[in-house]
Amino acid sequence: MIVDEAIQKLNEYATEAAAAVLEADDERQVDLVRQKYLGRKSGVASINAGMRELSEEDRRKLGRVLNQIREQISSSLETREATLRESLSAAAAVAERIDVTLPGRMPQRGRIHPLTQVTDEIVDIFVGLGFKMAEGPIVESDWNNFEALNTPADHPARSMHDTFYLKTPGDGDPPLIRTHTSPMQVRIMESETPPVFYVFPGRVARRDETTVNNLASFAQIEGLAVAHGITFADLRGTLRVFAREMFGKDLLVRMNPSYFPFTEPSAEVYVSCFVCDRAGCPTCRGEGWIEIMGAGMVHPNVFRAVGYDASITGFAFGMGIERIAKLKFGVPAIRAFYENDIRFLEAF
Ligand code: PHE
Repeated sequence: MIVDEAIQKLNEYATEAAAAVLEADDERQVDLVRQKYLGRKSGVASINAGMRELSEEDRRKLGRVLNQIREQISSSLETREATLRESLSAAAAVAERIDVTLPGRMPQRGRIHPLTQVTDEIVDIFVGLGFKMAEGPIVESDWNNFEALNTPADHPARSMHDTFYLKTPGDGDPPLIRTHTSPMQVRIMESETPPVFYVFPGRVARRDETTVNNLASFAQIEGLAVAHGITFADLRGTLRVFAREMFGKDLLVRMNPSYFPFTEPSAEVYVSCFVCDRAGCPTCRGEGWIEIMGAGMVHPNVFRAVGYDASITGFAFGMGIERIAKLKFGVPAIRAFYENDIRFLEAF
């Protein structure tokens, strides 16, 4: 072995090793570099082994360089290892760091559903006028939903197309899902003597086509006032107060002749548009008036059916809660109230 060549080789190894060390990105790679340049099969090792053949003087000369190079390589390996360890713990520290200036995560708060809010508001208005509130079952008898309400057996409202009937083993009239809250009129009058002043909120169902503004299951609120001397003017005045309280303005009330089997006379009740004051706008579809409910004077046949003296008088009304809520909140489609989109619900 020629000493000068060996020294040159060692210097080359040193240069190569220095570059390789810097490229090692983790402990495992550092070990590989160590094996390659200082291990048993490395060039350094084979030069070391070849030293045996050299003269004393050459051995000393080469030995010095060899040790130097070895030390150089192994110290650069150690430095690299230390650097890697440090950056690893720095990364871990960053990952663990708590930023105390970050805003906290607010707990999500539940709130009252807009339809419930509107129901409560309507009930409150009538309670303020002296009405009581009562609720009844969704599954009703034919008697309460139709018969006692002067709705004859051949009335179109009773057809299978409009009403959900329940399957029962017996014959006789099957129970049904109430198609309106009016059966509560019957229930209350059958169990209480006049005067009765009540509102009845509740769910009802009809076999209707489902659209964005029409649902097979919806909510109504019914009103009933029965006492000696009650007149149509009382109905009108009561609804006028309701409209003012509900929409926050002194609105006009218009009553158009209509028909319900259980009221006579019957009316469709409109209020003057609370957005445009009858000028015509999208809310009232250019009409100036908005229909908000059906109403009328309780039909004497209903009083007869519940066992009341036919000389008594009273009024009743019924309105769809979703429609009122839609108007009040300016929601474009009733369906939105049932989609449970949290972004929608959070707006109320
Ligand atoms: N029950 C009627 C309906 O569902 C509304 C109504 C109630 C009309 C009371 C008059 C009196 O359409």
